[in-house]
Parts: sequence; C-alpha cells; structure tokens
Amino acid sequence: MKNTIVTLQKSKLEHEKTVMVTAYDYTTAKIMDEAGVNMILVGDSLGMTMLGYEDTLSVTMEDMIHHSAAVARGTKEAFLVTDMPFMSYQTSVYDAVVNAGRLMKEGRANAVKLEGGAEFVPHIEAITKASIPVVAHIGLTPQSVNAFGGFKVQGKDEAAAKKLLEDAKALEAAGACMIVMECVPAKLAKIITQELSIPTIGIGAGPDCDAQVLVYQDLLAMYGGFKPKFVKVFADAGAVMREGIKAYIRETKKGTFPAEEHCFKIDDSVIEKLY
Ligand code: KIV
Repeated sequence: MKNTIVTLQKSKLEHEKTVMVTAYDYTTAKIMDEAGVNMILVGDSLGMTMLGYEDTLSVTMEDMIHHSAAVARGTKEAFLVTDMPFMSYQTSVYDAVVNAGRLMKEGRANAVKLEGGAEFVPHIEAITKASIPVVAHIGLTPQSVNAFGGFKVQGKDEAAAKKLLEDAKALEAAGACMIVMECVPAKLAKIITQELSIPTIGIGAGPDCDAQVLVYQDLLAMYGGFKPKFVKVFADAGAVMREGIKAYIRETKKGTFPAEEHCFKIDDSVIEKLY
C-alpha cells in the first residue's frame, strides 16, 4: 500500500512508529522500498555520501532533481521526500515555490523538505498553497553549519528549548505536514511530538518521535570515518562489499573467473572458417 500524508498521519494517531531512510539512486531506492520503509528521503546529505563534498552547501537543484528522479523510478510504496538544497528557498518566497515545484515535477517527489524555524513560515505557507506538501527540519540544520559554528546538539538551554517548541508549532500552523528534528535532546523531542498533531521524524532526537530517519550509509556502515552518537550500525554492508570486490579481483587474476557458465557459445564450424 502506498504511504501518503494521510496514512502517516493515521500512524501517529494510532501510535504506530514509522521509518524513513535516505536513498539517492534507483537500485538503493528499490531495495529500501522492497524492505518496507514508509518514507524515503533524498537528502542533501548526498553532497557528502554520493558526491564527496565536506558539507551540504555545494549541492544544487540539478543534483537534487537528478537523484530524486532516479529514486522515484525505484520507489513504489514509500512516501518520497526530497530536500530543497542550500539557497533554493532562503532567497525568496518566490524562489521557494518555483524550486519546490521543480522537485515535484522533475524530481517526482511526494513532498519537499526545507531547514529552518519560524522565519520560513511565509515560504511554507506559499509552497503548501501550491498543493506541495512540506516537511520542515529543525534542531541541527546542516545548511546552517557556518552560522552554528559546527555540528552541535540544539535546544539544550531554556531559551533554545522554548524557541524549538515555538518554531515547531509555527511550522505546523504554516502547513508543514511533518517535522524532522535533528540532534535535539530526547525529552524535548518527546514534548514537541506530544504538542504537535503532525508526525515528527527524529534523527538523534530519542525514541519518542513518531518516526526515525537515518542516512543509509551510516546504518549499513558504508561511509566510514566519523560515526555520530545517534547512529546505530544495523549491518556491515561496507565489509560485505569490500569482501565481494576482493574475491572478484582474486578470481580474475587467478583466471577462475569467468568460468564456463559465464561464457557464450559458438558453433566450432564457424570458428574453423576464421583460420
Ligand atoms: O540530508 C539528509 O540526509 C537529512 C537527514 C539527516 C534528516 O536531512
């Protein structure tokens, strides 16, 4: 059954947890969809995981459309959310609507996601008026890494916690259909989840959010390097891939691959006529 904003909203009401994971290409999206995730996020984290940048700031609309369209082709049942990249919506409400529209038309997303608090209420109102569902993203918002001075847990003191709660309520009132909370203390995320009627999606925001999201290379140990505290490795796909590639190299060098069953046949009479 196709996941929609209606089924995801119903899951919140029925206290049934839902699951989101990132994907950036057709093959991976198909695996995630067949595994049964409720939502797939084409995150601008693709800047790091797919394109090798050190942050998300260089990701373009063309990058997002290219990857979103590929993921859409591999997705049947999951609800597809695509990130609006840095400077595709911050510049004006007009830009926000035009670029959200491109992610829907060309990227075939079911919803767009944008980072930021109450300052983006006009943008969310305008995008939702165009019948485009918007997922908001608060807490640690990686596009603001330079303004934050690094990747830090958000909402830890009274003023910051109140601001996050107020932001969440303002974003819901503006029409957001869901809210991602990244690196928010678990007790605060629980309160925000209880105060909102739309689903919350946590990443480093504790177990009480309505849904969880992880970057797939993190949960499958494919990315290497730094592992954030909130990541759990569920399978070591990186090791399986490295072993597979090493076996391919070994057998090719030894001459045991390709074997007879991998070869195409030709009649000997044809071969004889070649000499
Ligand atoms: O870009 C991304 O993958 C994200 C998740 C970390 C929520 O925004």
